[in-house]
Amino acid sequence: MRPSVQSSKEPVYLKVADALESLIASRSLRPGDRVPSVRQFSRQQHVSIPTVMQAYALLETRGLIEARPKSGFYVRFRRSHAVPEPAGLGRASKITDFASTDPFESLLADHSDSNLVPLGAALPSDELLPGAKLARTMAAIARRPDSPGTSYDVAPGSERLRRELARRSLDWGCALQADDFTVTIGATEAVFLALRATCEPGDTVLVESPTYFGFARLLRELRLKALPVPVDSATGIDLDAVEKALRRSRVSACLLIPSFHNPVGCSIPDESKRPLVECLAQRGIPVIEDDIYGDLQHNGARPRCLKAFDRDGSVILCGSYSKTLAPGYRVGYVAGGRWHSRITALKRITTLSGPVLPTLAIAEFVKNGGYDRYLRSIRQAYRNQVDRMREAIVESFPKDIRLSRPQGGFLLWCELPAKVDSIALFHQARTAGISIAPGPLFSPDGGFLNFIRINCGCPWNPRIERSVGVLGHLAQRLGR
Ligand SMILES: Cc1ncc(COP(=O)(O)O)c(C=O)c1O
Repeated sequence: MRPSVQSSKEPVYLKVADALESLIASRSLRPGDRVPSVRQFSRQQHVSIPTVMQAYALLETRGLIEARPKSGFYVRFRRSHAVPEPAGLGRASKITDFASTDPFESLLADHSDSNLVPLGAALPSDELLPGAKLARTMAAIARRPDSPGTSYDVAPGSERLRRELARRSLDWGCALQADDFTVTIGATEAVFLALRATCEPGDTVLVESPTYFGFARLLRELRLKALPVPVDSATGIDLDAVEKALRRSRVSACLLIPSFHNPVGCSIPDESKRPLVECLAQRGIPVIEDDIYGDLQHNGARPRCLKAFDRDGSVILCGSYSKTLAPGYRVGYVAGGRWHSRITALKRITTLSGPVLPTLAIAEFVKNGGYDRYLRSIRQAYRNQVDRMREAIVESFPKDIRLSRPQGGFLLWCELPAKVDSIALFHQARTAGISIAPGPLFSPDGGFLNFIRINCGCPWNPRIERSVGVLGHLAQRLGR
């Protein structure tokens, strides 16, 4: 049993719930086991009985435990817990152009089609985002007599936002200053500028395999080649695999999503980050870190950034508020380390400034709008949605699937039986009114044909539940 949870700053019932949940996750408590009685657990954790009752109610809502009349609480049977994580991510690393990103345009067009069930694009639902509050904040800023809303905000951009980023960087394990940041148009521009600053056309960039399909587009546009290194379903990219790849090939940069990876959901453990950063720094290879999902852990502490282990400015940290607050506001940032001046100059040349009012509205929300309280609520929502989706997939998909078990974010990576062609599934699902993301989009070299990524960014509802049933049926048929 864990030590007492009284000392933490988080609401105590959440810590109590997390303590019990970790016992379930580590299988110290198994489905069907009786969980400690409320009285017993309150004594063990040195907390009040109402606190434990609140924690148990939360775990019931999360679908982890259930009350049995006159008998107490039990760990629920959860079929999805028995499903293994995807394998087959271990492709040999060889330098490659990204294969056709064929359904990409269609996936982008699907963003705005409300007739489609949105399981394709990695998008949080509007229902969860604080759209009304942000709009009010933005309007209030615009109405101020001295409002800067109509002027350029020349790079490095809003000092107000950069000050908030500096303050928050302590949570990421860094101690960055406002002057270390440049404000960008989403994480996309941050990564684009970082690649421009560190690479020349024809160069090779080490990427995870699979990786976010937006990177494929950026690399191709910049005439860069990819050196894919497989990720482990649980622990992300592995130092040995990176070293092996680097012995064989010369790379100019390393582009990684270390926390709650898209599409796999894995995270590099904090203890593996230092050796990875040191290994790359010794070889003079810049690391471009995309931390866009870093604030969205399902339990416990936020993961540290690779940037937290950077001693010589060789990590370029990129991020945005697209997955947490408002993708349409297009507010992102980059802490460019040794390339900061070059990145800021490139930003001035290419887009000069970002959207001023959205940037100021986000800075205000992060400073005074209860951002941390809001983050706690969406973390919980995403965890619930991911759990519900995992259960529903296991109910209706073919028996021999594998399914990721992300500890943060809202994406699931599903390995279907080898016979299922995910591009065919993508087209059939679309005809049935459902958007999904097929595996080859995430592959530098045309692999992952029998994989799909599922977005769990929307609150669970009967329409989504029905769609998962339809997907399962289509996948069963394609697998025959
Ligand atoms: C890993 C990753 N990076 C970047 C982006 C795009 O971010 P932004 O909307 O901030 O440009 C996404 C969107 O899905 C993503 O998953």
